[in-house]
Amino acid sequence: MKNNRILVTGAAGMVGSYVRDVFSDHQLYLTDLVEMDKDCISLDVCNPVAIIDTVKKIKPDLVLHLAAATDVDRCQLEPDWAHTVNSIGTQNIALACQATNALLVYVSTGNVFPGDKKIEYTEFDEPGPINVYGESKLAGEQIVKSLLNRYYIVRAGWMIGGGEKDKKFVGKIARMIIEGNSSLKAVNDKYGSPTYARDLLNGISKLVDTGYYGLYHMVNPGIASRYQISEALSDVLEYPDVEIESVSSEHFPTPAPRIRMEALRNYKLELLGYDWMRPWEDALKDYVVSELLPVLL
Ligand SMILES: NC(=O)c1ccc[n+]([C@@H]2O[C@H](COP(=O)([O-])OP(=O)(O)OC[C@H]3O[C@@H](n4cnc5c(N)ncnc54)[C@H](OP(=O)(O)O)[C@@H]3O)[C@@H](O)[C@H]2O)c1
Repeated sequence: MKNNRILVTGAAGMVGSYVRDVFSDHQLYLTDLVEMDKDCISLDVCNPVAIIDTVKKIKPDLVLHLAAATDVDRCQLEPDWAHTVNSIGTQNIALACQATNALLVYVSTGNVFPGDKKIEYTEFDEPGPINVYGESKLAGEQIVKSLLNRYYIVRAGWMIGGGEKDKKFVGKIARMIIEGNSSLKAVNDKYGSPTYARDLLNGISKLVDTGYYGLYHMVNPGIASRYQISEALSDVLEYPDVEIESVSSEHFPTPAPRIRMEALRNYKLELLGYDWMRPWEDALKDYVVSELLPVLL
């Protein structure tokens, strides 16, 4: 797929930061809540009139809907905000795609599951979220399915990426290690599948070429706890002396409950024979070496 018109929501976010690179062969219309620069205009997905007007004006072939309320704890404390952005915002986007026959890609999350499984969740497992973020993202999925025939719902795992702007787990721990912090603690009883945002977008760019619409899991395969990720990170950073204490999640109480098992298996991609996503350890190493270390050292 080349030279398509692609409207991106949430383009200033972690995943959005890779859109220019990965979709460089296309005409991009980047938007986010707050205008980032002259190439990324302001567009609030909660404003139905602005959404339909913009989509009708741009006439995108594809809408890459990345805008979301992603602060899981704030979602728990402010459910109206979570549902307005993640559910109604997605409805506004899906209705605009319906009106203009644009293809929609909606990125969702493993938080739609209850987390009581012992192994990774597949696309054939029943959702059952236990926190507001998961509920609102699942509602977004259901709205997309009910309004559109041509869509991809892509569930991703614990997102890695952002480089200089990385304030998520990997960025935080890497900074702490490099700054010589000697008392690191990381949780050993919650599991996910790290997902390098660049790999995710590369995978999405291939998926939309297939025409096989529907729901997919797309993570860097494997199951990891935050503790295992921290250990892998200290190896990549070559700080062998750093002591990382393996602790239970009781050490880090949060307003939103976290599921025990959030890891996903790219089962439908496997069944279709698409081996696009490398193991999380390789993706983490690549990210740290190519993007994080150059800005941290
Ligand atoms: N991060 C993860 O670990 C993870 C895991 C699985 C799936 N996902 C999904 O992946 C997608 C991209 O996530 P991400 O990690 O890139 O999140 P992110 O860094 O938080 O980016 C989301 C962007 O959407 C913007 N936004 C929020 N409300 C908006 C609104 N009303 N209108 C327009 N834009 C709005 C945010 O702006 P502000 O920053 O100003 O709020 C932010 O720039 C989301 O759908 C998310 O649910 C994320």
